[in-house]
Amino acid sequence: MEQTFIMIKPDGVQRGLIGEIIGRFEKKGFTLKGLKFINVDRPFAEKHYADLSAKPFFSSLVDYIISGPVVAMVWEGKNVVATGRKIIGATNPAQSEPGTIRGDFAIDIGRNVIHGSDAVESARKEIALWFPEGITEWQKTVH
Ligand code: CMP
Repeated sequence: MEQTFIMIKPDGVQRGLIGEIIGRFEKKGFTLKGLKFINVDRPFAEKHYADLSAKPFFSSLVDYIISGPVVAMVWEGKNVVATGRKIIGATNPAQSEPGTIRGDFAIDIGRNVIHGSDAVESARKEIALWFPEGITEWQKTVH
């Protein structure tokens, strides 16, 4: 079954949007397979956004992602990569439709609340980066 990587960015966490965002994916019918509430350091954020390292906004993007805790998740379901991107909306909130997460909750491309993998192959890479222990590990019983 297809999986995607979804991250609620620091602004989404600080604004109290965790429940709203998880609810939208749940109500659509996708299954939450992994979840971490964590801080990331600069080298890790640079690795996640390595493809954007030549962009002029790269260092401010990394500053933003390390500015507070994020919620890193793996969601599973039919066509979850493409449908997840539809639920999230266009990268630039000025272009994202009302009814999408960014369309409803963001106005600035530099504070766009959430990240979602853009393709099945990037989802695979991002899940491996953020969940190197595998996504069944979190379900283990704590003793
Ligand atoms: P995301 O979906 O996480 O993928 C790359 C991120 O780069 C994007 O969301 C935005 O947060 C950020 N980004 C893309 N374009 C710009 C831009 N022009 N200025 C600032 N940030 C940008």
